Amino acid sequence: MISKIDEAANIIKNAKRIVVFSGAGISAESGIPTFRGVGGIWKKYRAEELASYNAFKKNPELVWRFYDYRRQIIAKAEPNNAHILLSKMENMFDSLHVITQNIDGLHKKAGSKNILELHGNIWRVRCEKEEKVFDFMQNPVDPLPPKCPFCGDILRPDVVWFGESLNSDILNKSFKIAEKAEIAIVIGTSSIVYPAAHIPLLTKKKGGKILEINIEKTPLTDISDIFIKGKASMIIQKIFYKIAD
Ligand code: OAD
Repeated sequence: MISKIDEAANIIKNAKRIVVFSGAGISAESGIPTFRGVGGIWKKYRAEELASYNAFKKNPELVWRFYDYRRQIIAKAEPNNAHILLSKMENMFDSLHVITQNIDGLHKKAGSKNILELHGNIWRVRCEKEEKVFDFMQNPVDPLPPKCPFCGDILRPDVVWFGESLNSDILNKSFKIAEKAEIAIVIGTSSIVYPAAHIPLLTKKKGGKILEINIEKTPLTDISDIFIKGKASMIIQKIFYKIAD
């Protein structure tokens, strides 16, 4: 009987257009905590008190302390084999795009170029008054909260908070890429946060396949064509060896 790894590798090998849809689980092996599940961020902290515009308006220093803490964890993290092998795969296909919900920048650090970040990036800040976005690498952030160098207003992390809309250009591009893909490789996401979770469904709706890689089942599993249970780096490595043969 053909193994799931072989089945997945065969579909990927024959595809021209691939979309990778990643979530916090792909960075778990790099030492960055996920949001849900054992040790998840939202088990320890209340999301609405730390990752919402209301929370920021009420107590910007508290919100910034939380982001500063996460920036310090992310600064120490290196891409793992899953990020690295996906970046190598970019050159092996006509089109391979990574659409990520992660704000850690590890796909870029691993060398991927075609990346769409749906939920922003923790290394950027935004001045709402000036409507400007800056790279902001300072670590630790001092003073806290940081101020806009132009107008002195308090800067916010350039990430999407609960109750906020996603950048519509990035979302529309992501939807188009997903619709054209022959396979969506969904890695390390609980697939419950919308509109992001819609992305692989679009691939399927247009006749493509869904390959899901996760250490546990999710609401997407029953819809997926192939579900491979396991850690992202191990499974991607196994598939990579088959397709690089
Ligand atoms: P979650 O924390 O909701 O889900 C992480 C998923 O990764 C779970 O399904 C785990 O089973 C899986 N997982 C953990 N370790 C893994 C490993 N080594 N290999 C493979 N899978 C593994 O994270 P997301 O789905 O990314 O939103 O969460 C979606 C959004 O919810 C985030 O972008 C964030 C959060 O609130 C915003 O900040 C807007």
